[in-house]
Amino acid sequence: MLETSNLDTIFSKIVQHIKESQEQIYDIAEHTRAEHDNIKDELENVKKTVSQLIKRENKLRAQERAARIKLMDVSKNFNRYNEQDIKMAYDKAQKMQLELAMLQAQEQMLRKRRDNLERSLKRMQDMLDKANNMNSHLSVVFEYLSKKLPTISSSIEELHQVQKMGISIIKAQEEERKRLAREIHDGPAQLLANVVMRAEYILKLMEVNPAHVKKELVNLQELVRQSLRDVRKIIFNLRPMLLDDLGLVPAINRYIEDYTKQYGINTKFVSFGKQIRLPQAAEVSLFRIVQEALNNVQKHAQARQVMIKIEQLADKITLIIKDNGRGFNVESVEKNKGHECYGLINMRERVQILKGEFKITSAPGQGTLISLSIPVITKDCRTTGSA
Ligand SMILES: Nc1ncnc2c1ncn2[C@@H]1O[C@H](COP(=O)(O)OP(=O)(O)O)[C@@H](O)[C@H]1O
Ligand SMILES: [Mg+2]
Repeated sequence: MLETSNLDTIFSKIVQHIKESQEQIYDIAEHTRAEHDNIKDELENVKKTVSQLIKRENKLRAQERAARIKLMDVSKNFNRYNEQDIKMAYDKAQKMQLELAMLQAQEQMLRKRRDNLERSLKRMQDMLDKANNMNSHLSVVFEYLSKKLPTISSSIEELHQVQKMGISIIKAQEEERKRLAREIHDGPAQLLANVVMRAEYILKLMEVNPAHVKKELVNLQELVRQSLRDVRKIIFNLRPMLLDDLGLVPAINRYIEDYTKQYGINTKFVSFGKQIRLPQAAEVSLFRIVQEALNNVQKHAQARQVMIKIEQLADKITLIIKDNGRGFNVESVEKNKGHECYGLINMRERVQILKGEFKITSAPGQGTLISLSIPVITKDCRTTGSA
């Protein structure tokens, strides 16, 4: 999978390329502008020369006309002019005609040049418009990317986190199922096997020693009762009905009652604040956290005492679970890849999902304190949660 740090490098390279392209386009535009200005100057000059030429041409045309009239007059009135006059008039008219033809040719050339220059100017202007357009588009892209850049990698990181969270929730569920299977195997399954054996024994006893049957039946009854209690306990742990019916505090109370009875650990539970019903997902998560924390105390802490405190404030709910047991090094347990501590991970993730804060404070010989707080969402927002 692509590392987010690599993405950061790729994105900043893209932004860098855009910046460089922008600079190159800017250079091209500057060149084009300079060229454009040169052509514009040249065009002005050509236009000026053309109009000067036209003026000269007009003047020359008048002169040429006069020379032609003069020549016609001289040709008609031979008797009044001498040979010298006639030659001069002829030469003059011819010179004028030649000059006029030259001027006309020059004018035509300049007009062509003018048209070419005008076309080039138009092309340059189009190019300049395009370059400016492109530059402003690139500016928008640059602006957008440089603003988005810091958030792109963090959103991807968040997605990774969510993905990781999903995986550990699945693992935690698998662990929970294993625990459940073990509990059923060690508890009710074994008891029921015992019940079957005892029943067979009683059947035989009825034939050989009926006097003892009553006592054995009483024993059997006790075995069945115990199985029933175990099954009820497993059902309660699976999904405490009390939690749905009465809410968090009564469900924890009931759980602690059983817990104290079973493990003999002195467990104190206090709750402060108004007991409003929370969204189902929050109630289930808080209950599961208490359950897992108490499980850990019984499994690992060797504690004599546990204290649980819930406080419901207007904007948040806080929960602490504190034991006076042997404690542990949180950092090394959480970093220890060999032993995957799904219990602690699961607690932390449940709180993260509820956008709360979670902290474990513990050290060898110092007991353990789990503290968390989650923002309160009113009852209107109750959603369907799952255990
Ligand atoms: N209250 C506690 N007291 C002492 N050690 C604890 C306590 N809670 C957790 N630990 C330590 O943290 C480890 C991880 O706990 P957890 O994630 O619940 O996994 P597990 O209970 O399956 O071992 C435990 O193995 C134990 O070493
Ligand atoms: Mg555990």
